[in-house]
Amino acid sequence: MVIKCLEDYDAISSHAADIVAAAIIEKPSGVFGFATGSTPVGLYKSLIARYQRGEISFSRLTTMNLDEYVGLSADHEQSYRFFMQRHLFGHVDVRPECIYFPPESGEPSAFDDLIQSKGGIELQILGLGSNGHIGFNEPGSAFDSRTRVVGLASSTIRDNARFFEHSRDVPHQAVTMGIRTILEARQILLLASGANKSDAVVRSLEGPQTENVPGSCLQSHHNVTVLLDDAAAAGLTRNEK
Ligand code: GLP
Repeated sequence: MVIKCLEDYDAISSHAADIVAAAIIEKPSGVFGFATGSTPVGLYKSLIARYQRGEISFSRLTTMNLDEYVGLSADHEQSYRFFMQRHLFGHVDVRPECIYFPPESGEPSAFDDLIQSKGGIELQILGLGSNGHIGFNEPGSAFDSRTRVVGLASSTIRDNARFFEHSRDVPHQAVTMGIRTILEARQILLLASGANKSDAVVRSLEGPQTENVPGSCLQSHHNVTVLLDDAAAAGLTRNEK
């Protein structure tokens, strides 16, 4: 695991964009796993700028998103499909028929088969929940879990209430790639910024690997890069500048 501590959010975003752009250039027809949340917004801005400068193209990419709320339509402003359209897909040349989200109905684990049938994920982008969740794999998620419908932890509902008009509007269920689904990606890029993530960062990166801290599963993956700002890295006993 490579852990890099950078000066601020902008530095995380542009360094992350360097990594993602390099992977896209190397595998222009690869499968890329995208994440939502406020953390990757700066990365997506930087990818759009690179696309506009002609440095990268999404035209042959397949995209697999990490998670989605259950019960929100694609045109609901807080759905992750809407988010991706607004922050990335709507600004680049990705083909709409090559954009996939985990399905909330039918058999969600079919999403894992779909990923494999497309060749597997080259690079999976991840944020980190303040309780250590990745995707919507809340504490207690099995390390061998597949894509499935999950109930959200009350701390996640509280954290995400800021995006909704009323906290009662936050869905209580989501569909998420499983921990095993995520670990099957060939490369993982984890981003975390801000003091409210520092506890989850320490527990994920330096604590024991336990299903109580979903992010700790990443310690067993052979190709993970973690980009942190000083605030998120504050509790780590070791980090590289
Ligand atoms: C959300 C998403 C996660 C995201 C995390 C952190 O609930 N399901 O994929 O990484 O929580 O969000 P943020 O980046 O806004 O802090």
